Amino acid sequence: MMGRYALKAPRSVFCGVNSLDEIVPFVKGKHRRAAVFTDRGVRESGILELPLDRLRLADADVEIFDDLVPEPSCDQAQGVIDRFRGSRADLIIAVGGGSVMDVAKLASISCGDHGVRDLLRDPALGKKSVPTMMIPTTSGTGAEATCNSVVAVPEEEVKTGIVNDEMMADAVILDVEMIRRLPKRIAAFSGVDALCHAIECYTSKRANPFSDVLAMEALRLILPSIVRACEDGGAMEQKEAMLRGSFYAGAAIAASGTTAVHALSYPLGGKYHIPHGAANAIMLMPVMRFNLPACLVEFGEVYDALCLGNASSDAAKADALLDLMGSIVSRLGIPASVKDYDVPLGDLDGLVAAGLGVRRLLSNNKRELSAEDVRGLYREIL
Ligand SMILES: NC(=O)c1ccc[n+]([C@@H]2O[C@H](COP(=O)([O-])OP(=O)(O)OC[C@H]3O[C@@H](n4cnc5c(N)ncnc54)[C@H](O)[C@@H]3O)[C@@H](O)[C@H]2O)c1
Ligand SMILES: [Zn+2]
Repeated sequence: MMGRYALKAPRSVFCGVNSLDEIVPFVKGKHRRAAVFTDRGVRESGILELPLDRLRLADADVEIFDDLVPEPSCDQAQGVIDRFRGSRADLIIAVGGGSVMDVAKLASISCGDHGVRDLLRDPALGKKSVPTMMIPTTSGTGAEATCNSVVAVPEEEVKTGIVNDEMMADAVILDVEMIRRLPKRIAAFSGVDALCHAIECYTSKRANPFSDVLAMEALRLILPSIVRACEDGGAMEQKEAMLRGSFYAGAAIAASGTTAVHALSYPLGGKYHIPHGAANAIMLMPVMRFNLPACLVEFGEVYDALCLGNASSDAAKADALLDLMGSIVSRLGIPASVKDYDVPLGDLDGLVAAGLGVRRLLSNNKRELSAEDVRGLYREIL
């Protein structure tokens, strides 16, 4: 019999055509002042106007915080929160990718005296003081479905996840209009991040019946859609599949947890500022090949569920699935090594130590990793 497991999810999730319209009944007469968190890229793309139009219809006062930065450090997040505290807002609306949503989540639980650095030491200090609505503009991190917030800690050269149930969103809106013109590079990075979430959760030691359903459905949506969603501006069906698939994959994280791909990619972000999606894409295939002997059955199940062919043995099915994932990563033009980034080759010891430090996620990996295994995996990508 399986141990205990749980499904944590946002209170309301609105999806489908014009789901942004749901902002009006959610806000009107219930919230007087909304703090809208976003960043320059989102603002310049013009899509911020879509939720702002609905907030006007809802008669809400709006204060816009549009200077959030991609992949923020704990102190950069704190700077936004300090300014937000003076706003008297009774609702936070995040319009952006994972970076924006993560800062919005931290702001929602940062009442009292403690700051983000206190939350890094003890996430349980945070108590929700302002409800949140998440509107993702990438597809995606799935951050709208998790109670995690990821920040960089520069002096330790790591990225760290702060986990607290209080950060679960009160409302999520998945409207494909928000990703219609998502630039290809960002769509590819964040799409491969979602793919990693799904396959890692499906093969995680903490996988359970809830996360299995969510992760498998995410794979069913993402694998056949990701390339067209990135390459064909008009492929709205595939983009919608990516948006929903990313959400399911995020929900799978909330029900179980990612594994060695994310564990070993965090130091690539923390030490060398490689974007989260790219770092995962770089680690994905080496880690999946390493995991092959421990995950044959799971890979075979994915192969069967997606009707990928007529292979009969688990080994052949697993090979075919890994080939497909590898071809997606290379087709999307995401680097398979860190050569495009400024990574000193002599830093292998530092990388290995930092990777081994991400115990929270490494311990979810079905195949145990020794220090030598971690070294071997990093050597493959240098
Ligand atoms: N909390 C979680 O559960 C979780 C899960 C995975 C990743 N993350 C974190 O999320 C962050 C990465 O988020 P991301 O990949 O969504 O990217 P991002 O939020 O960092 O955004 C990347 C760039 O894309 C731009 N952008 C976003 N949407 C756009 C749009 N529709 N049109 C034009 N430009 C747009 C932004 O302006 C930014 O410059 C990382 O810090 C990662 O660690 C968090
Ligand atoms: Zn991720």
